[in-house]
Amino acid sequence: MSDETARRTSLDTAKLFNEVAEPYERFTRLLDRPGGEIDTWLSGHIGTGHRALDVGCGTGRWSTALATRYDEVLAIDAAPRMIEIAERERPRPNIRFRVRDAMTLTPREDGVFDVVLVFSCVMHVGDAGPLLAVLRRMVAPGGKLLIIEPERPPMWGDEGWQTDFAFGRARDLYEATGDVDAAVATLQAILSPSWLKISRISVPLTPDRFAEEYLRALPGAVVERGGDVFGIFMLSWRAPD
Ligand SMILES: C[S@@+](CC[C@H](N)C(=O)[O-])C[C@H]1O[C@@H](n2cnc3c(N)ncnc32)[C@H](O)[C@@H]1O
Repeated sequence: MSDETARRTSLDTAKLFNEVAEPYERFTRLLDRPGGEIDTWLSGHIGTGHRALDVGCGTGRWSTALATRYDEVLAIDAAPRMIEIAERERPRPNIRFRVRDAMTLTPREDGVFDVVLVFSCVMHVGDAGPLLAVLRRMVAPGGKLLIIEPERPPMWGDEGWQTDFAFGRARDLYEATGDVDAAVATLQAILSPSWLKISRISVPLTPDRFAEEYLRALPGAVVERGGDVFGIFMLSWRAPD
């Protein structure tokens, strides 16, 4: 896929995220449990410092964690509706939420950052290579790039896999929280027409492909696999001093 095609696909996906923003906010509120695996990994890796960047921030669920540890946070997302919800639900004096395409980030215009966090956004921008090249340039010398991406579920592509996946996740959440609203919000988000379209465009990588593509772009990166509810990759890369 060329850079231009990757970018068009990404912006199409961002339009679909606009339509799914409200159920997404409800669903992810229920998904994020303090003390869960992701929370623990991020707490251990985010560090502290002056400038942080949250790429594809969605409704800002991780931007606030950065804001407690960094003086200033730039949080960008290509979907205006996501940014509206972030500004409404998670305003902080040290976070600037902006509607931006991640592919337009440049050190010259935006400066570099002590930490760059990208949570479940790379696969929505198309092939990983072009975005990873942009992201590594945004990291200050000695700074960190942290990427969390979902792993391709084993049943991906089988007939009816999305329905099975949605009900499976709803059940996981119900069993974990005992909260029937959590299960309903999960079904509403994952089975909404926009989400179904997104999941046809944005295909998560298998572990082998993830290692191949990401380690080629980010030599020396450390990749861990985990996930309380979804299978995920958690990658940390340190920029040379
Ligand atoms: C699965 S959501 C993740 C949001 C947030 N990081 C979170 O963990 O809740 C993916 C986000 O990537 C955004 N996105 C897609 N393409 C983008 C692009 N080219 N530039 C910036 N954001 C993009 C979407 O609008 C969406 O909010």
